Amino acid sequence: MKDIINPQIEQYIEKHTRQESPLLRQIASDTQEHPNAQMLTGKVEGQLLRMLVKLVRAKRVFEIGCFTGYSALTMAEAMPHDGEVITCEIDEQVAHDAQNYFSLSPHGYKIKLRIGHATDVIRAVPNDLDLIFIDADKENVLSYYNAVKPKLRKGGLLVVDNVLWSGKVIHPNDSEAMALDTLNKRIMVDPQMENIILPVRDGVQVAMKKP
Ligand SMILES: C[S@@+](CC[C@H](N)C(=O)[O-])C[C@H]1O[C@@H](n2cnc3c(N)ncnc32)[C@H](O)[C@@H]1O
Repeated sequence: MKDIINPQIEQYIEKHTRQESPLLRQIASDTQEHPNAQMLTGKVEGQLLRMLVKLVRAKRVFEIGCFTGYSALTMAEAMPHDGEVITCEIDEQVAHDAQNYFSLSPHGYKIKLRIGHATDVIRAVPNDLDLIFIDADKENVLSYYNAVKPKLRKGGLLVVDNVLWSGKVIHPNDSEAMALDTLNKRIMVDPQMENIILPVRDGVQVAMKKP
């Protein structure tokens, strides 16, 4: 993943953003050993998710793409005792790691980890979700968007990671960049949604379902 923002500014943002919990720090640090470590959202995007969860007073969150559990646990920590995060992951090994971390957290009981393909998991997810975070295979973002949007409550937030794809969405010439560019364009003209793309990390799409 290529820096979109000047690295010194990135460092400044990192340094002046709220510190995450010790367990989240441990997950981030342990995940550095993983060959796809760059997939982890990390502190700054994590704190953005935390803020969004708190602003919409989310009690029901659905995440596509759990990996080692960093973002799911970040959101669970921000939720009330009766909050629920349903997260899904196709890779059994990382799902196992994530579940181990959840069991170490006092907020872990809020997280329901579903192992399987997102398309199958979405069908069983309840309606009236307060926040949906899409962070899995990028080629399928549009189909995930279409499948989960009816399950988002009015006033709820749909958040999608990596929507700038290292800047490649400007001249998309690979399948991921094309899919993300199509999604960004689609959300902008969707009469049910209003949106903003934030240049956080690799680009974060934040769209609200209009009340
Ligand atoms: C970018 S990572 C998620 C990072 C995570 N949100 C975090 O903060 O650490 C994407 C994850 O989606 C998973 N994934 C890819 N395709 C999937 C699919 N079709 N269904 C469910 N999970 C999928 C990958 O195995 C990977 O662990």
